[in-house]
Amino acid sequence: MRLTRRALFRQVGAQTAAAIAAPALASAAPSVSPRRGAPIRLCANENPYGPSPGVLALMRELDVNAASRYPDAELDVLRRNIARHHRIDRERVVLGSGSGEILRAIADSFLHSGRLLVQANPGCPAIRTHAIRIGAAVAAVPLRADWSHDLDRMLVRAYSAPALVYICNPNNPTGTLTPRAAIEDFIRSLPPDAHVVIDEAYHEYGRAAADYASFIDRPIDDPRVIVTRSFSKAHGLAGMRVGYAIASPSVASLIASRRIEETITASAAMAASAALADTDRIRAIVQRNVDDRQEFANQANARKLRVIDSQTNFVMLDTQRPADAIVDHFDRNGIALPLAFAPLNEYIRVSLGTPSDMVEFWRIWDLMKSEV
Ligand SMILES: Cc1ncc(COP(=O)(O)O)c(C=O)c1O
Repeated sequence: MRLTRRALFRQVGAQTAAAIAAPALASAAPSVSPRRGAPIRLCANENPYGPSPGVLALMRELDVNAASRYPDAELDVLRRNIARHHRIDRERVVLGSGSGEILRAIADSFLHSGRLLVQANPGCPAIRTHAIRIGAAVAAVPLRADWSHDLDRMLVRAYSAPALVYICNPNNPTGTLTPRAAIEDFIRSLPPDAHVVIDEAYHEYGRAAADYASFIDRPIDDPRVIVTRSFSKAHGLAGMRVGYAIASPSVASLIASRRIEETITASAAMAASAALADTDRIRAIVQRNVDDRQEFANQANARKLRVIDSQTNFVMLDTQRPADAIVDHFDRNGIALPLAFAPLNEYIRVSLGTPSDMVEFWRIWDLMKSEV
């Protein structure tokens, strides 16, 4: 009897199924081609190479049953695979439609009235935007001159009201790291009623740095710590919308009580399980990103431009003039970039695309001599 891939997942789990579906890849070749006429997206820190061909093949061959049944089994398999991957209990894993949805659920769980979100500025807006919407106060503490979180000042703010602290490491939009030892000291000094979210959406890109260590891979056994991860970046599955949090069992069940797991589809859960197991692809993507980042720095150097040293798949480029006019120029020429991240109003954040995307980026940049 021929096993469908769905049945294969049920019986052997993703580790084996993905090994069958996705033979080891030597390099991170793009697995998807750009849509003709669509803008080049250097705006959302997606992975321009996409998931591995093995994961894509599996997505194309989804058993028709997956469309007509609720995805209980696929979610169970994904939760089990994540727990096994990190060697933790399943009760500690919360799934969501992207880590952004989980961050919103964390805000809903911990930022009721009178509570304060403490985060860096500039920092990822994912949790802040929602915190403001639900009426929480926000303390946005400027990054230090070395672009790390100013944990001393954040600690002072965390004592001013019952707090949820958000640390994005590596940080979006700067791409920079805050040293592990400093974060550990900070957490130990927090008031007992505070919680801290460590957003590791870009973990795979930063993990080789000397003063970085994930709070999932090297936990500190503190129930106040919640760590979030995303399948949208190195795993190349932004369009499938899957992320997860690791927390203590009671905090995990509090976040999950927001019923965010129900929004994940069967195909997204299966793709995430396969991508998680495809460690060769992640290695190749990360190495490719190191090369792409170096090439970006070389091109910037050649134009006497400075970049913030990044540990992610995006780079902040100091343009030495108002960034929004530059974003506009790129927009008119078919490249999407995000607006400036105040107060860094002369920087543009550039998500690294494929080599041909980046040739086009620099061509459009050079046109500015005459246009901006
Ligand atoms: C730091 C950070 N956290 C979370 C998210 C949300 O990602 P997703 O919802 O796709 O997992 C993003 C998106 O870019 C991000 O940059």
